[in-house]
Amino acid sequence: MTNKDVIRGLGWFVLPISVYYIWMNFIGLAMLELIFGPQLNSYHYEGDTRLNRTRILIEGNGYPFESHEVTSASGYILSLHRIPSGIKKGQATSSKRPVVLIQHGLVAASDALVFRGPEVDLPYILADAGYDVWLSNMRGNVYSRKHQTLNPDRDSEYWEFSMHEIAVEDFPAMIDYILNSTKQEELNFLGYSIGSTTGLMFSSMLPEYNKKIKVHVAVAPFVYVNRTIPLSHKLLLVPGVPLSQTAIANGIYNFLPRRPYMSKLLQMLCHDRTPIQAICKSCITFLVGEDNNQFNSTVFPHFLEFFPAGTSIYLVQHTFQLYLSGNFAPFDYGNETINQRKYKIANPPPYNISQVTHPVSLHYGSGDIMVAEEDVDILNKKLPNSLGMFKVPYDSFNHMDFMWGTNTKKLVYDRLISIMDKYN
Ligand SMILES: *[C@@H]1O[C@H](CO)[C@@H](O)[C@H](O)[C@H]1NC(C)=O
Ligand SMILES: *[C@@H]1O[C@H](CO)[C@@H](O)[C@H](O)[C@H]1NC(C)=O
Ligand SMILES: *[C@@H]1O[C@H](CO)[C@@H](O)[C@H](O)[C@H]1NC(C)=O
Ligand SMILES: *[C@@H]1O[C@H](CO)[C@@H](O)[C@H](O)[C@H]1NC(C)=O
Ligand SMILES: *[C@@H]1O[C@H](CO)[C@@H](O)[C@H](O)[C@H]1NC(C)=O
Ligand SMILES: *[C@@H]1O[C@H](CO)[C@@H](O)[C@H](O)[C@H]1NC(C)=O
Repeated sequence: MTNKDVIRGLGWFVLPISVYYIWMNFIGLAMLELIFGPQLNSYHYEGDTRLNRTRILIEGNGYPFESHEVTSASGYILSLHRIPSGIKKGQATSSKRPVVLIQHGLVAASDALVFRGPEVDLPYILADAGYDVWLSNMRGNVYSRKHQTLNPDRDSEYWEFSMHEIAVEDFPAMIDYILNSTKQEELNFLGYSIGSTTGLMFSSMLPEYNKKIKVHVAVAPFVYVNRTIPLSHKLLLVPGVPLSQTAIANGIYNFLPRRPYMSKLLQMLCHDRTPIQAICKSCITFLVGEDNNQFNSTVFPHFLEFFPAGTSIYLVQHTFQLYLSGNFAPFDYGNETINQRKYKIANPPPYNISQVTHPVSLHYGSGDIMVAEEDVDILNKKLPNSLGMFKVPYDSFNHMDFMWGTNTKKLVYDRLISIMDKYN
C-alpha cells in the first residue's frame, strides 16, 4: 500500500463526514441564524473590515486597488474589484491597457483569487503582464450583498436567482460599466468553473455582446455532462437534493455564507500541525479529484479564511441540475409562478451555444473529477469558434489546482496569458 492508497482509503472513510459537513453545517448554521435572527447576520457583514479583505490583500502586496459598484437592471448592487496596473518595472500606467474580467467559481469571491500573492495568483500576474484586471463578485457573495430594494437577511426574493440571472442581468451591467470606465470597446473574459458556465450562458442569451468579448478563456468549464457521475458525487447529491428543498421550505436561501467562527474552527482543525489535516484534505479531494502534490497544505488556514463566500441555494441547485441532467439549460425552479416571473415562459429551452461566436479556449485537467475531458470535448465540438482544448501538462491536475495549485503559473497561467496576448 502506498501513501496515496492510504489517503484514498481515508477519503472514502471520511465520505460520510464530508457529506455531513457540507450539508448539516449548512442546514444547522442556517437554522441557528434563523433562531437568533438578523442581528447575527448583520454582525458579520455591516461595518466589518472583512468587507475590505480584497483591498487589504491587494494593497498589502503593493498593487493599486479600486472598488466599483455596479447596479444591475434588477437592482442588485455588485462589487467589482480592480487592479488597474502592475508594479513590475517598465509598466506604462497611462497607456490603454487591455482589460480582463475574471469571474470566480462556485461559492467564491474575489479574495479567493488573490490571497496567495504576486507571482503566484493570476490577477497579479496579469496586472504585471500589462492587463487592467477586474474581479467580479457574484451577487449574494460576501461583497455583493446589496440591493436597491431587497434585504438579503429578510427578503427571500433576493435569493431567487441562479446562474441564469447573473448571466442575463449582471454580466451586461458589469461589462458595460467596465467598457465605459476604461473607454474601450471590448474586453477579455476569464471564467473559473461555473464562472465560465455563466459567461457562456451570457453570450448565448445576449449574442449582441459577442463583439464586446475578445476571447473567453474557460478554465475548467462546467457545461455539458454526459459521462457517468463518480460515486462520491452521487453520495453528495443524493442527500443534497432533498436537503436543499428542506432548506428552502424553511426559508434558508444563503448557501455556505462566510462566517468568521466557521473559518476559525476549520482553521484550527486543518492547519499544518494537526493530525486532522488529512481528513480536511480528503473532504476536498473526494469532491474535486485526488491531489497530486499541487495543493500546499500550509495555505490551508488562509484558504479557509477566504473560502467559502456564500451564494444562493438556487444557484447551487442549478449546478446540480446541469450536472445530473447533462442539459445546458436555465434553472427550473419547479414552480411555474417563479419560472414565469424569471423567464416569461414556464419551461425555458436549453441555451443555444451556437450563439457564442466569440473565440473560446478550453482548459482542463486530467485529474479533475468535476470537469472531465470527454465533457469538455462535447463543448469544444459545439462551440462555433473554439480555439481548442488545452490539457494541463501535469498528471492528475484537479479542479481546485487551477486556482490554488503550487505550480499554476508555469502549468496554466502562462498559457492563458499567451492566448490572451494574441488578441491584445
Ligand atoms: C473599506 O475601505 C473604504 C475605502 O478605504 C472605507 O471608506 C471603508 O470605511 C472601509 N470599510 C471598513 C469596514 O473598514
Ligand atoms: C460613463 O462614464 C462616465 C464617466 O467616465 C459617466 O459620466 C457616465 O455616466 C457613464 N455612462 C454610463 C452609461 O455608465
Ligand atoms: C453521451 O454518451 C453516450 C454513451 O456513452 C454516447 O453514445 C453519446 O455519443 C454521448 N453524447 C455526446 C454528445 O457525446
Ligand atoms: C507552501 O507555502 C508556504 C507558505 O506560503 C511556503 O513557505 C512553501 O514554500 C510552500 N511550499 C511549496 C512546495 O511551494
Ligand atoms: C410558487 O412560488 C410562489 C411565489 O414564491 C408561492 O407563492 C407558491 O406557493 C409556490 N407554489 C408552489 C406550488 O410551491
Ligand atoms: C441556435 O443559433 C443558431 C445560430 O444563430 C441558429 O441557426 C439556430 O436556429 C438556433 N437554434 C435554436 C434551437 O434556436
